[in-house]
Formats: sequence, C-alpha cells, structure tokens
Amino acid sequence: MSRRVLLGGGVAAAGVAGIGWGAATLTHREHHTDPAARTVPFFGAHQSGIDTEPQDQCAFVGFDLVPGTDRADIIGLLRIWTDDAARLTQGRPALADTEAELAARPARLTITVGFGPGLFTAAALEHARPHWLKALPPFTIDRLEEAYTGADLLLQICADEATTVSHAVRVLCKNVTSLVRVRWVQRGFRNASEGQSMRNLMGSVDGTVNIASGVDFDRLVWDDGTGLPWLAGGTSMVLRRIAMDLDTWDELDDDGRELSVGRRVANGAPLTGTGEFDDPDFEAVDDTGIPVIPPSSHIARAHHSTDGERFLRRGYNYDDAPAPGTVSNSGLLFACFQRDIDAQYLPVQQRLADFDALNQWTTPIGSAVFAIPPGVPKPGGYLGQPLFE
Ligand code: HEM
Repeated sequence: MSRRVLLGGGVAAAGVAGIGWGAATLTHREHHTDPAARTVPFFGAHQSGIDTEPQDQCAFVGFDLVPGTDRADIIGLLRIWTDDAARLTQGRPALADTEAELAARPARLTITVGFGPGLFTAAALEHARPHWLKALPPFTIDRLEEAYTGADLLLQICADEATTVSHAVRVLCKNVTSLVRVRWVQRGFRNASEGQSMRNLMGSVDGTVNIASGVDFDRLVWDDGTGLPWLAGGTSMVLRRIAMDLDTWDELDDDGRELSVGRRVANGAPLTGTGEFDDPDFEAVDDTGIPVIPPSSHIARAHHSTDGERFLRRGYNYDDAPAPGTVSNSGLLFACFQRDIDAQYLPVQQRLADFDALNQWTTPIGSAVFAIPPGVPKPGGYLGQPLFE
C-alpha cells in the first residue's frame, strides 16, 4: 500500500472526526466569531481567490513542468491539486497530509491554479492557447530577473493566516515533485482596515479604484467562452514583481509623494477630493492654471482611457531578506485579472512604462502571465477539465 493511501485513510478518519469541526458543523455564530474557521467555497463556475475579498497572506508559486511531462501527466497533477484544494479550503486535511492539524484553520483559504504558455506546448494543445497568453513585450523600465520570470503553472494560495498558507503550499508542492519543479515562490501580505484599502510599503493607500463584483466582473474579468469554449468562466492573470527603492522614497516629503501618486498620504483621497472613494477630477486646475492632479502622476497615467482598459488589481506587499549591505528588499507583487491581457492591461502598462512619476522609485524585476481556467462546478471534476476533454 502506498504511503499516500496509507496516510490518507488514517488522516481522513482522524482528521475530520478528530479535529471535531468542519464548515458543515459550525454554527453561524462560530463562523462569525472565529476568523480562523471561515471558509470560501471551492466548487463553482469560477475559481475562488479572484472575486474573493483579498485575504491577508498570499504565496504565488510558479512551476516548470519536468521535460517529457505530457497531457496525461498534467491531467493527473490537476486531479491531485483539485482534490487537495477541495479539502484544504474547507478545513479538511489533504490525503496523505502529514501535518493534518494544520488544516484545521482554513482562515478563508483559496487555491487558484493558472496555466502558463509552456503548458499548452507540453500538452500538445497549442490550438487552445489564448492569443494573449505569451510573455509580455519588453518595457524600457524592466530589469527582469530569470528567478522571478515566466512559469508553466501557477498556484496562488491565499488565506488570512500565514501558517495556513505555508501548509497548503507544502502539501500542494510535495505530492507532485516527479512532474514539476518549483521555479519561484513569492510571498506577500496586505492588511486593510474596514472600509479602507490596504497600504503598500511606500505608505500609500492602494487598491481604491478597482472592479466591483457583479456586472463589471462578467464584462471585464470572466471570459464568456466566445473565442475558446474551454475558457468560459476563466480569466487571465498578470503577475509583476515590482521592487521599491524605499531609501530614496524616504527622502521625499508628503507633498512630493502626493504629487507623484495623485492622492493624499493620509487617507488616499484624490488631490481634488477629501475622501478615499471620491472620483478624481483630472481636469481641475488651481488658481494659476496648473492641474491639481499632475498629468505625470501615477493615477493620471494609470487611469483607463477607455472603459475596455479596466482590470481587477489584487496585489500583495512583499518584504524579503535584504542583500548584504542593504537595508530592505521590498516591493509590490502586482497581480491583476482581466479577460484579455492585450486589450485591457497592455495599453495601461505601456503608458506607465512611457512615463509615470513613480518609476523613479519602482522597478519591475519579475513578470509572468497565466490563463486561469474556470472553476470546478461540482465534486468529481478537476481543474482545467474543459481544456483536456
Ligand atoms: C492606482 C500604487 C504599479 C495600475 C494606484 C494607486 C496607488 C498605486 C497608490 C492609487 C490608489 C488606487 O486607486 O489603488 C502603485 C505602486 C506600483 C503600482 C506602488 C508599483 C510598485 C501599477 C502597475 C499598474 C498599475 C504596474 C498597471 C500596469 C493602476 C491603476 C490604478 C492604480 C489602473 C487606478 C488608476 C485610477 O483610475 O485612478 N496604484 N501602483 N499600478 N494603479 Fe498602481
């Protein structure tokens, strides 16, 4: 009997019964008072972790397929990940979970799978590859490092607790080492107070202007299957690792920071307003005729010039160990979701690469793109199944 089967039986019995709780046994009150017990449904038309209110902690894991891995191997891997994700997200240990106790605090765990360009080549499915699924064009601001660029497969693992994320990352990685190699792991965090967006490590309120769930999501994020039927309910993701030069940013006073971003440091209000969610007025000028929000500021440059240029931003801060002789190694794991990278994301990114006041302090050092397959509608299916049928 394999270790997986042996452990699986034991864990299933000890885990669910022994831990003594699962989503189904919780009362509404317990759900409400114990944040660690909160769960996000796994099965559904879309993968979770996209329209889910961002959790506090996240790990993005990029994998390379081992040479020779084929379509059947990939399906096998996706079946394992589906089974593990369906259990872990609901607070149940994975099969062969050697630290089953760690599954007991799902803390809104979501596990989202993405396919890089190389997966379509390995699976001999080039004809089913979305036209926008390719490395982004090089931008003059880029200083990309191989260690954070590209990948054949992605796991985005988010939860409100770092221990939960670590456990899920380990479970999902260690069972598939014969098929994939971890290329990078990028860990991030974000904390928001109620009614306000998170702050990034430059101190700015970040994430204010975004796509609201509902109609905008259906229009701008979820694919409707018109071009590629298998992608209906899926989307795309761009992940950029953007380093911040906090030593030189520290030299700038609040006025300088506000003119660079176009928003106030104190509460994220646009320079033409008083509250975070006030609409910026890019036309407003002061007594001397100078625009109140500088046209060179980040929000003026990033603002969509047509409705079709909008996308969902769902980024995380990162703060890793500094290189010897330096003080910080911080930045933003910029993650965004949209139906079509070429039409929605690229025009904005190109505008920012051409000019953005923030570029003086920020440098993209990693870049990867993924097709995000739809969700698994019900137990028995596996992630990406419509692509392989
Ligand atoms: C807005 C920070 C990179 C797209 C903002 C805001 C901040 C910010 C503070 C204002 C608050 C908000 O609406 O969220 C940063 C930092 C970056 C970065 C520190 C790099 C380290 C990017 C990139 C893109 C982007 C790479 C896209 C290619 C946007 C968009 C908005 C925005 C679309 C909303 C603009 C509007 O319509 O008002 N960003 N950002 N940002 N950012 Fe960034």
